[in-house]
Amino acid sequence: MDRKALPVHDVELRRAHPGDTDTIVDLLHRMLKEMAALGGHPVAEGSRAAAWLGQRCAATVEDPEHLFLLAEAQVLEVEPVGLVEASITRPPPVFRTRRVLHIHAVYVLPGYRRRGIALRLLEAALEWGRAHSCAEAELNTLCRNPARYLYESLGFTAAEVEMRRIL
Ligand SMILES: CC(C)(COP(=O)(O)OP(=O)(O)OC[C@H]1O[C@@H](n2cnc3c(N)ncnc32)[C@H](O)[C@@H]1OP(=O)(O)O)[C@@H](O)C(=O)NCCC(=O)NCCS
Repeated sequence: MDRKALPVHDVELRRAHPGDTDTIVDLLHRMLKEMAALGGHPVAEGSRAAAWLGQRCAATVEDPEHLFLLAEAQVLEVEPVGLVEASITRPPPVFRTRRVLHIHAVYVLPGYRRRGIALRLLEAALEWGRAHSCAEAELNTLCRNPARYLYESLGFTAAEVEMRRIL
């Protein structure tokens, strides 16, 4: 089937399980490489990045306060096409206690973009945060990343600027 012709309702979201670790690592690894091209940290060479992502995923995929949601498309067979990763965080004890939904990652494979998949993934993550009594949702994005238009369409506004300089 032509991917461009794929209607968005043929994409299903589901919670990931430990058997999805390789898929999650692959999607996160692709995302980090794209972020590096937009001014993010350069990704470690060889197998180091994938090994670290795999360990981190194995440690968190079953954590009830950590969410990995996969988007899967039915093409010739079911294919993973995107993901969102989020978790519940709490500020350090110097601040008032409250639960904040931190969105760590959102990624959609290039051939499936601009069909509302990231929007669906993020809306589901926000709903999960609400259901877990989070008062607020936060995320970081690079200044040059057009993903900010997606976040703005969901009501996110810039609250903090990370500044850098060459030494
Ligand atoms: C950012 C990303 C997740 C968006 O995925 P997507 O499924 O294409 O996004 P959606 O189709 O749900 O976009 C919804 C809306 O967000 C905005 N948007 C999304 N991508 C955009 C882009 N590249 N430029 C401008 N606006 C964009 C648009 O308003 C879009 O609606 P429209 O297509 O009707 O105009 C995807 O491009 C991606 O994986 N990029 C690389 C990884 C990345 O940048 N992740 C975010 C890290 S902070």
